[in-house]
Amino acid sequence: MQQLKGAGAVIEAYHTSLEPFWHPILPSDNLKDNPVAVELLGRGLVLSRLDGAAVVFDDVCRHLGAALSRGTVVDGCTLRCPYHGWSYDKSGRCVDIPARRGAAIPREARVRSYPTRERYGLVWVCLDEEPEREIPAFPEFGDSEVHKGPLRTYGPWRASAPRIVMAALDDTHFPWVHPGILGDPANPEPPDHGVYREGEYLVSTYDMMQPANDTVSTNGGAGALEKVTYTNYVTPTSIRLVKESAAGVYVIWQVATPIGHDKSLIFSRQARSFDRDPARDPEYERLQDTILEQDRPIVESQRPWLLPPLSSRMMLYVRPADLPLVAFQKWLEELSIPQEV
Ligand code: FES
Ligand SMILES: [Fe+2]
Repeated sequence: MQQLKGAGAVIEAYHTSLEPFWHPILPSDNLKDNPVAVELLGRGLVLSRLDGAAVVFDDVCRHLGAALSRGTVVDGCTLRCPYHGWSYDKSGRCVDIPARRGAAIPREARVRSYPTRERYGLVWVCLDEEPEREIPAFPEFGDSEVHKGPLRTYGPWRASAPRIVMAALDDTHFPWVHPGILGDPANPEPPDHGVYREGEYLVSTYDMMQPANDTVSTNGGAGALEKVTYTNYVTPTSIRLVKESAAGVYVIWQVATPIGHDKSLIFSRQARSFDRDPARDPEYERLQDTILEQDRPIVESQRPWLLPPLSSRMMLYVRPADLPLVAFQKWLEELSIPQEV
């Protein structure tokens, strides 16, 4: 019992520690006339478009607690509760109580609203009133020289967001989990890593030989290995992998949204400086789908759900191969993102 209580407190602390970060919760295109229920960091939220802007409230009516996500958007500017018709404006203030029209609306009749932005085709929310960080950058998004693939949503995966990011940061599993695609089982030696901090990012760089494919180059033909230089920009819940090879620059931008400590959605988008015909996108998407489906059962199997503290030695890192992972975890500890559940 004592142990369960402890786990609950750690989960709570994990949720709180990720509140100051921006999290994507829905593709902008999916937010139309009706409100949408979403979950983030263990909390039920309602997302709606009022006066043209995406807004996010707690999904609990201030009157008797009905879910506002079951309500309706009226005239494009207020969200009306399905139970007794209280209506809220975009700031979360109640502007209509049908059962007592003509009387003043109590000041407390409001629901909590959260900072919300739309960027990169996604609606982002920060559960802290004062966002401390930027939305994870995707500089290729505005670069007309680079072709962007479609926005993709994966999951939810039964895994914590940092575990998902770590799986993309970890290159030493490539020959084992992605043989013939990202790694060569005959050459499992890890590359030399460079790891450093740059602004709000942890950056890891390395060169490796990778099997020829669309994302690297097919010049060498099937079975050939080609050199790829990786530069990965990481936050606790996102990673942008920049791969430079004979083909050009190929980017995978991926954000893990923590629905809870053991459940996360993945939003992902690719960009490439070559082979820019959109008709080629399905080939690239298929490759990425295959890679993620190979990762998924492994990442979902990892325990504990959150990363155990380095000092616990519950995970036995090997150096120098696991250097980027150690740096990532040290950084999470610096940011007081709790672990050990
Ligand atoms: S519970 Fe929402 S109006 Fe009554
Ligand atoms: Fe992987």
